[in-house]
Amino acid sequence: MPVTQVLTSPGDVRAWSDGVRCDGERVALVATMGALHVGHDSLVSLANEHADRVLVSIFVNPLQFDRDTDFDAYLRPIDDDVARCERLGVDAVYAPTASAMYPAGFETTVTPGALADSMEGAARPGHFAGVTTVVTKLFAAVRPDVAVFGEKDFQQLAVIRRMTADLDLGVEIVAAPTVRESDGLALSSRNQRLSDEQRFAAVSVPRALDAAVVAARAGERSSGPITAAAMAVLERTPLARPEYMTVFDPETCQPLDAVAAGARIATAVWFGDVRLIDNRAL
Ligand code: PAF
Repeated sequence: MPVTQVLTSPGDVRAWSDGVRCDGERVALVATMGALHVGHDSLVSLANEHADRVLVSIFVNPLQFDRDTDFDAYLRPIDDDVARCERLGVDAVYAPTASAMYPAGFETTVTPGALADSMEGAARPGHFAGVTTVVTKLFAAVRPDVAVFGEKDFQQLAVIRRMTADLDLGVEIVAAPTVRESDGLALSSRNQRLSDEQRFAAVSVPRALDAAVVAARAGERSSGPITAAAMAVLERTPLARPEYMTVFDPETCQPLDAVAAGARIATAVWFGDVRLIDNRAL
């Protein structure tokens, strides 16, 4: 089995990446917070299609959590994650400590624009500034040719694309389709924290989005009845506590009153203290 190098400092990552590029090879970054699952496997396999070498970063980024309890509860099975990367043939893992990423005196952050104001940005103040800051630091350390992000975090993908263009970061951003369980639940590290009962109830999330798609395909153009059709599914599910259900423009991530070309619907739903997000094209 190929050996996956485990790097822990920005300097080591830069040296690794410089070496790869000196050999004339392209580097792909798959940025993760660990607790890797089949969804991440698909990001790695897409990364392999776009580059000669793949680096997976594993860092639970404190800056993007709006609640300490969520940050503390986030799973950190680092040995399993490295073993999984090894099985996948990943060339290097970058797993910095919090103090390597944010040394004493750290105070510079990257502030996203209006794309980050709605949905996840509105529900989790400061979340996207945490994401853009850490992704900028990862891009600066790894200097990848290409980086792969999942469409499950659709707004994150849009914010990162915009930031990469606005700041001339020179990284090609590739979108990976959402990977789902057989019942439709989008794969997420957070699924592992659901009780059996909550996991059973969580299927209401993709079913709610299905109901929205059915309404749109039946000719409904107005966002109100489309979101109402989706919310009705969640309201029938006692364990589900929806936070938002929004029809939005994929370019601006702003809510739409009526479905236009390319419109999507996104939701965040709580099951106990686990918050799941998902989205679909309408
Ligand atoms: O999507 C994630 O796992 C995180 O938001 C990311 C992009 C790794 C930044 O911490």
